[in-house]
Amino acid sequence: MAVTPRQLVEWKQQHRAIVALTAWDYLLAGVLDQSGVDLILVGDSLAMVALGYETTLPVTLDEMLHHAKAVRRAVEQALLVFDLPFLSYQESPQQALHSAGRALKEAGMQAVKLEGGYPAIVDTIAHLVEAGIPVMGHVGLTPQSVHQLGYRQQGRSTAAAEKIVQAALDLEQAGAFSLVLEHIPADLALTITQKLTIPTIGIGAGPHCDGQVLVTADLLGLSEKQPPFAKSYLNLRDLITQAVQSYGAEVRSQQFPST
Ligand code: KIV
Repeated sequence: MAVTPRQLVEWKQQHRAIVALTAWDYLLAGVLDQSGVDLILVGDSLAMVALGYETTLPVTLDEMLHHAKAVRRAVEQALLVFDLPFLSYQESPQQALHSAGRALKEAGMQAVKLEGGYPAIVDTIAHLVEAGIPVMGHVGLTPQSVHQLGYRQQGRSTAAAEKIVQAALDLEQAGAFSLVLEHIPADLALTITQKLTIPTIGIGAGPHCDGQVLVTADLLGLSEKQPPFAKSYLNLRDLITQAVQSYGAEVRSQQFPST
């Protein structure tokens, strides 16, 4: 049975941790899905890891949709969440509905993610949920606000932490089915996780969230640079380099092909 937003909420109740990763193409998405990942996010981090941009800001809705369609073709089990890119939802709830609708209609996504917890975003999320679109929130470090926040940990002062807690509660109230908590202190993530009935998915937010997400390029050791909280389970960059160099050496020495 394919994973649904409702299932994630049930897993929180059952204390069954949620495993999430990002994907941006057919090949990788298929491997993740067949490896038992619960949730695949077509994250706007693809702007950096797949398209070579400095930040997530330049990627367009059409570029994101192009990648999402490839991911969709590979995935049978995992819940597919589409990250709405910068300026595809901030102008108005109507703009957000149009963009989110395209993700569901054109790319077969099952849910969308929006960054931020300020009142206009909360209203926008309520609008999407009313239209029948499952929405994941994202608070703490929100990379689309990099020019305002940098990549620093958020929620360190009492006032900042209270603001994030309130945003999380507002997003749940607006109907979000889950919430990404990025780069906040672990005790703040614990507080939010305990207060919410919807699952929290952490990235750089400590061990107490209901699930974890990583950018897959970081997990594989493929990224040129990665945040301090990411963990690589493999050094694929080195393995690819070795394979390519072996191939190059064999071609040059005429060992390959052998016949
Ligand atoms: O775009 C992305 O990869 C994300 C994750 C960091 C949650 O938003």
